[in-house]
Amino acid sequence: MSKPFLPEQTGYTVAVVGATGAVGQTMLSILEERKFPVADLIPLASSRSAGAQVTFQGRDYTVQDLAAFDPTGVDIALFSAGGGTSLEHAPRFAEAGCYVVDNSSAWRMDPSIALVVPEVNPHALEMARENRIIANPNCSTIQMVVALKPLHDAVPIERVVVSTYQAVSGAGGKAMDELAKQTAQLLNAQQAEVNVFPARIAFNVIPHIDVFMDDGYTKEERKMIDETAKIMEADFAVTATTVRVPVFYGHSEAVNVTFTGPMNAERARELLADAEGVCVVDDPAGEDYPMPSEAAGSDPVWVGRIRDDQSCANTLHLWVVADNVRKGAALNAVQIAELLIRQN
Ligand code: A2P
Repeated sequence: MSKPFLPEQTGYTVAVVGATGAVGQTMLSILEERKFPVADLIPLASSRSAGAQVTFQGRDYTVQDLAAFDPTGVDIALFSAGGGTSLEHAPRFAEAGCYVVDNSSAWRMDPSIALVVPEVNPHALEMARENRIIANPNCSTIQMVVALKPLHDAVPIERVVVSTYQAVSGAGGKAMDELAKQTAQLLNAQQAEVNVFPARIAFNVIPHIDVFMDDGYTKEERKMIDETAKIMEADFAVTATTVRVPVFYGHSEAVNVTFTGPMNAERARELLADAEGVCVVDDPAGEDYPMPSEAAGSDPVWVGRIRDDQSCANTLHLWVVADNVRKGAALNAVQIAELLIRQN
């Protein structure tokens, strides 16, 4: 039995940094839905929205300015306000004795920082006892590793080739507004204004998420490769193409997985049916398969279209869908917070 991270209490002081944003708002509703023991809630954002109200458990709370906030006495802070904000403020919270669960990419690949998906590597949380910062992985990585873990435990993976179909909510509230606005503009025969994405997103797909690097991959693709290795503590090959699609909520992934030994679709279906956090929807005869329209608002990682790759031995195709704002961000962060208050 390991030592608890936080002492047993009837309630904890929880700060949500980025409480006015797409992920921050979902963090508030998931804390409420899962009855996380919150004694005091502190919503924080930039000075732009200081004074605004957010609702939690039917009560209004005033948003405070993060820059002016003293974190003394906060037990857990859930950060989702961008990498720069995390780099600047997470250490301040950790030094004050607070555990920070950070949704940005700022700390994920720091070897001293835990990068945790509770269904996959809860033991990694031990690393956070000293530095008190825990990184929440990239949304596309989270849903992929939840699906890969039970398969890899049965037969080690040799190689993964993934293509993503990522919703605009992954890029925040302004990105969702841009899809809605461009759609309306185009349906009204107006010119679509492009501000958030590198190209028009309405009625389009953009094979470009985050910045390009010298090797031709984007940073989003690099995150999927590097974070998968760190979370799964494995050195199998991963390659990725990440694509933005005009969907509001729910990332989809076509994942091709080669195993080092015998594996087939039937066995994979059984393993996934028993896996924590996974729901299999795979009925070609009934034309039933996971889709973002149905996964949005739900917690599991949905897996379907499980089939043997006819072109390659011991290789499977999987179609993996999850709500990127929930399991890909806010829910995973709250699940980490639940591990922090677990008493054994
Ligand atoms: P604000 O409302 O004050 O801009 P999204 O990902 O949906 O765009 O949301 C980003 C969240 O991060 C918002 O809550 C936003 O607050 C917050 N945020 C952005 N920059 C900062 C900052 N410098 N300090 C604190 N919060 C920030």
